Amino acid sequence: MNTADRNRRNRKWMQEALSLAALGAGRTSPNPMVGAIIVDAEGEPAGRGWHERAGAPHAEVMALREAGERARGGTLYLTLEPCAHQGRTPPCAPAVAEAGISRVVAAVEDPDPRVAGNGFEILKAAGVSVEVGLLAHRAVRMNEAFFVSIRESRPFVTLKMAMSLDGRIATRGGQSRWITGEASRAWAHEFRDRVDAILVGVETVLKDDPLLTARPEGREGKPLIRIVLDSRLRTPKGARTLPPDRGVATIIAAVEGSDPEKARELTDAGAEVVMLGPGPNGRVALGALLNLLAGREVRHLLVEGGGRVHAAFLDEGLADRVMAFIAPMIIGDSQAPGAVSGGELHSLEEAPKVSHVTHELIGGDILIQGYLNHPVWADFEESPDV
Ligand SMILES: NC(=O)c1ccc[n+]([C@@H]2O[C@H](COP(=O)([O-])OP(=O)(O)OC[C@H]3O[C@@H](n4cnc5c(N)ncnc54)[C@H](OP(=O)(O)O)[C@@H]3O)[C@@H](O)[C@H]2O)c1
Repeated sequence: MNTADRNRRNRKWMQEALSLAALGAGRTSPNPMVGAIIVDAEGEPAGRGWHERAGAPHAEVMALREAGERARGGTLYLTLEPCAHQGRTPPCAPAVAEAGISRVVAAVEDPDPRVAGNGFEILKAAGVSVEVGLLAHRAVRMNEAFFVSIRESRPFVTLKMAMSLDGRIATRGGQSRWITGEASRAWAHEFRDRVDAILVGVETVLKDDPLLTARPEGREGKPLIRIVLDSRLRTPKGARTLPPDRGVATIIAAVEGSDPEKARELTDAGAEVVMLGPGPNGRVALGALLNLLAGREVRHLLVEGGGRVHAAFLDEGLADRVMAFIAPMIIGDSQAPGAVSGGELHSLEEAPKVSHVTHELIGGDILIQGYLNHPVWADFEESPDV
């Protein structure tokens, strides 16, 4: 086989492994999505696998089980380095070598410091040939929350806003249901089902009384960690978001020294009240809150407003990605809340810039997405599909 054919075949198998990895979307956190395919010594696919959910077998183990003896002398295509440590499941790299795999083609090194090249070293020490980097761009992109949360020791943060053509997210009286159409709302519930946690400001709770759950169509959404930024415990004890969802309590993040009586009321209603040191303006310190969430293995936090909360995340440089639904409606009231309600901005140079922008139509609305921080996948070269 010539080099061009060999490269084409490698890419084809890796693309298939990436598609397998995507089957775990929304279910693997705090682990990444991973796909694997074993091609036997005759060049035929012998085993496939993907990581279905945290605690379930890793992709390569699933593929090895299916391949059985046909793994011997075969090639393993894997979207992420095999692990080298005992986690919820035993380490995979030694199992790959023991099964007799002769060559591993991996998309990218695992950023987890317990792995970070050690998986490859175990394979090489056992005489397995290792090639790294094929379609790395795509492998990192699909797991951007995992990569960023490990690098930054905080969750990856997406800001989501639904606004009118003139950038308003509600009327002056607080009516925001519904600015966007049904298709956008369904899309947003699919997206919620892929993150770990969702956050809003207390004004949104007071005005909208949201449930903050993921309700994807036709199936049960996963229980999210719900967070309300509420410095002085103004959340009403009857708020719909307070009862725990399948055992997961809503976190009311307040500032230290808040009224213990109010805290007890909210705890009695099922919430978990956490008191954090004050940040800028005496409000909840976002850095401290993200630390707390990182400690609970939250990889991806979705911030769903309102405008003041979006502004706070932007001011502190803690927003990675933005997702703006723009509906063909003009609210046209200067007193209506804006999608981002921050302080003064003196020049356009100071305005946060959005890069790597995409746009699409969702029903009658436009969805514009982009990045506020440099995307982790942008450092990996994009390779063309076959
Ligand atoms: N269309 C949409 O996508 C959408 C989404 C969400 C909300 N909304 C609408 O937006 C409106 C509410 O937006 P809003 O801007 O007035 O309020 P908000 O962003 O929902 O809540 C802001 C409040 O959060 C509390 N907070 C605690 N820690 C904070 C921190 N570090 N940074 C910022 N705020 C912190 C503050 O109250 P304390 O000082 O008391 O803590 C602050 O006043 C509602 O009318 C709602 O319907 C629309």
